Amino acid sequence: MYSRIAGTGSHLPEKILTNADIEKLVDTSDEWIRTRTGISERHVVADGETTADLAEHASRKALAAAGVEPGEVDLICVATATPDLVFPNVGTLLQDRLDIHGCPAFSLEAACAGFAYALGVADKFVRLGEAKCALVVGADTLTRIVDWSDRGTCVLFADGAGAVVLKPASEPGIISTHLHADGRYKDLLQYPDGPSRGFHLMREGKAGVRMKGNEVYKIAVNKLGQLVTETLEANGITKDQIDWLIPHQANIRIIEAIAKRLDMPMERVIVTIATHGNTSAASVPLALDTGVRDGRIKRGQLLLLEAFGGGFTWGSALIRY
Ligand code: UT7
Repeated sequence: MYSRIAGTGSHLPEKILTNADIEKLVDTSDEWIRTRTGISERHVVADGETTADLAEHASRKALAAAGVEPGEVDLICVATATPDLVFPNVGTLLQDRLDIHGCPAFSLEAACAGFAYALGVADKFVRLGEAKCALVVGADTLTRIVDWSDRGTCVLFADGAGAVVLKPASEPGIISTHLHADGRYKDLLQYPDGPSRGFHLMREGKAGVRMKGNEVYKIAVNKLGQLVTETLEANGITKDQIDWLIPHQANIRIIEAIAKRLDMPMERVIVTIATHGNTSAASVPLALDTGVRDGRIKRGQLLLLEAFGGGFTWGSALIRY
């Protein structure tokens, strides 16, 4: 038994923040942001708009694409680092909005690699016969926790959600997932506060995403390079067999480095960073849905998904779409 992607969906908030808008907030320039990151604009949530809102829109589109009624869903797994509430979890909030009740619903947090983790977990449920229709979501509103006075981070992050519906299949589907983490790097990329620390920094207005960007960059390229090799070798696949690379959209230079490692021309890479920015756990499913809906990604093609984030956490998935 395997799982396969029956449908995809995504959602971006309406409000757009351009590089010119950010030039008014911090000492930066459109030119610097575009050349160093590849980002021109990003979508950000409006007042009152939350991660669960974005997740719901993306989920409804994925369910419609899969031809599935919400009532058929028997597992909800949402990857997010920016939940609406500490609890109930976003999976549960999403379940209630879809008006379905009783099935397991949870969130997991693996920062920007969250969707790879969620896909890996949900795939196991389906393979073991414990779920017949799994809704897997990556949704984040990182602009809510960014320090808008820090030009090293506020130019990067954005909001959005992407979702897939997984159903059982006799052939893969999800061929394999590869998940890794190394907490030794916890200080290089973090939001340094939380409930168990009493939210003291947040109360004093001193919280906000912190990143040693340059160090993160080097380790990301290194780990993702190893990860794509591991994914190919585990399946006896050669680079030229991959139809589409669907990378985490953190920096166009990181994306290009991994494409180069795979000897893939950029025409076979789904790149959304120019208009999406870094949407954290939403970035990979947003890129996947973009490629599916514009007709580039076709049934039967071989997809390599990869992502890297705070922790560090990193993960990949090899998928026959
Ligand atoms: O999604 C989770 C994983 N995250 C990532 O993978 C992000 C990885 N890191 C990166 O993408 C890049 O490191 C950044 C885009 C964050 C930064 O690019 P960089 O080429 O590594 O720049 P840098 O940090 O080495 O800084 C170079 C210069 C510095 O000035 P000096 O010291 O050379 O005078 C920075 O202060 O650029 C300056 N700088 C900026 N200048 C204008 C940093 N941010 C900005 C900015 N605008 N927004």
